[in-house]
Amino acid sequence: MAGVAANNFELVEKIPLYIPGKPIQEVKREYGLGRIVKLASNENPYGPTPAVKERILKAVSGSDDEGIGLYPVSDGFYLRQAISERRKVALNKIVLGNGSAEIIEMAAKACFIAGGSAVIPRHSFAIGGIATQSSGGRVIETSASATEVDVEAVIKAVEPDTRMVYIANANNPTGVQIERDGIARLVKTLRDDILLVVDQAYAEYANPGEFSDASEFLGERENLLVLHTFSKIYALAALRIGYGLGNERIITLLERVRSPFNTNHVAQVAAETAIRDVEFVASCREKNQQAKDIFFNEAKKYPCTASGNAGNFVLLETAIPAPDLFVQLLKKSVIIRPMHGYGLPQHLRVTLGRPEEMEAFWTAIAPILGA
Ligand SMILES: Cc1ncc(COP(=O)(O)O)c(C=O)c1O
Repeated sequence: MAGVAANNFELVEKIPLYIPGKPIQEVKREYGLGRIVKLASNENPYGPTPAVKERILKAVSGSDDEGIGLYPVSDGFYLRQAISERRKVALNKIVLGNGSAEIIEMAAKACFIAGGSAVIPRHSFAIGGIATQSSGGRVIETSASATEVDVEAVIKAVEPDTRMVYIANANNPTGVQIERDGIARLVKTLRDDILLVVDQAYAEYANPGEFSDASEFLGERENLLVLHTFSKIYALAALRIGYGLGNERIITLLERVRSPFNTNHVAQVAAETAIRDVEFVASCREKNQQAKDIFFNEAKKYPCTASGNAGNFVLLETAIPAPDLFVQLLKKSVIIRPMHGYGLPQHLRVTLGRPEEMEAFWTAIAPILGA
C-alpha cells in the first residue's frame, strides 16, 4: 500500500532463508515413494542408544520430580553438571541452547544489540550469518575455498565495528578442519573486544589427538565461545539441544538474552545420559571413519571429486549442477543436500550413513554420473 511508513521488513527480507534438508515424509508425499535414504542433515544414522531411549520414556511417563506437564529446569543444572564432569569445565562456564544454533543466535543478540559486524569465512555454516543479520549486525564474508579456510583473511577483514568472528571447526559443508596454529592465531590476534565463536559441532567425530579443541584457550581469551551439539554424534537432533563453553562473563551475558526454559526436560535428560556413554561415541566415530574411507575409494570410480576430511559428511563435486542432481537423486529415493546456496553450485553434501544406505547412494548416482 502506498504511503506505508518504511519499516524494517525490507532489511529482514535480505536475510537468507535457511533451507533445511528435505524431511523423509515430504519426499515420500511429493514423489509417491516408499523407502527413502536420507543423507541430507548430518545426523547419526545409528540413532541414540537403548539407555537414552529408556531415559526419554521415563521422563515422558513422569514421576513426582519430572514429567512433560512440568516446566523444565530452566538453566539445565543437571545436564550442565554432566557436561562439567565430562569436559572438565566449571558449571558456570556452560550454557545450554535449543540446539547449538540457538546459542549462535544468543551470541549474535549479545554482540549486535547496537549494530556492528561479524566476520565469517565464505562457505561457512549458514546460521552464523543469519543470526548476525537477524540481530541487526552486518556480515563481512571473507575468502575461503571448498578445501581451505583462510585464517589470515579473517584477521585482515576485521573492521572497527566488528563484534564477532564466527568459524566452524570442522566447517559444514566443506568438512575443512582448522589446525591448532590457525585457532591460536585467531585467539591471540583478534582484538580483545571481539567475541570469537568456534563452532565444534563435529568435534567428536575427530580421532582424539587429531583435533584442536578451542576450549584449551578459554584461560587465554575472555571473549571466546566454543559450541557443541547433541544433534550429531550423540544422535539427538530431534530433541534440539547443544551447549556452549565460555568464560563466566560471556556465559552470564548469554544467560541475559536466553529465553527462559529454552531447553526442554526430555532433551536435557537424554543428553545427560548420552554424554556419559563414551563407548557409544567411540564406536560411532569408528564406523564413520570406515564409511568415509569407503566413500573416498568409491568416488575414484566416477567423474567426481570428494573432499572434506572432518565430520560425518563428504562434499562431492560433479559436472552436473547441484540442484539438478539433487532432484534426480530424489526421484531415486535418495535425499542429499545441494550446495548451490553455499556458493558451491556443482557440489553435493552427502552425510555418511549406514553401509546399506551408502550402497543405495552409489547405486542411485552411478548411472547419472556415468562410469
Ligand atoms: C557447524 C554446525 N553448527 C551447528 C549446527 C546446528 O546444530 P544444532 O542441531 O545443535 O542446532 C550444525 C548443523 O548442521 C552445524 O553443521
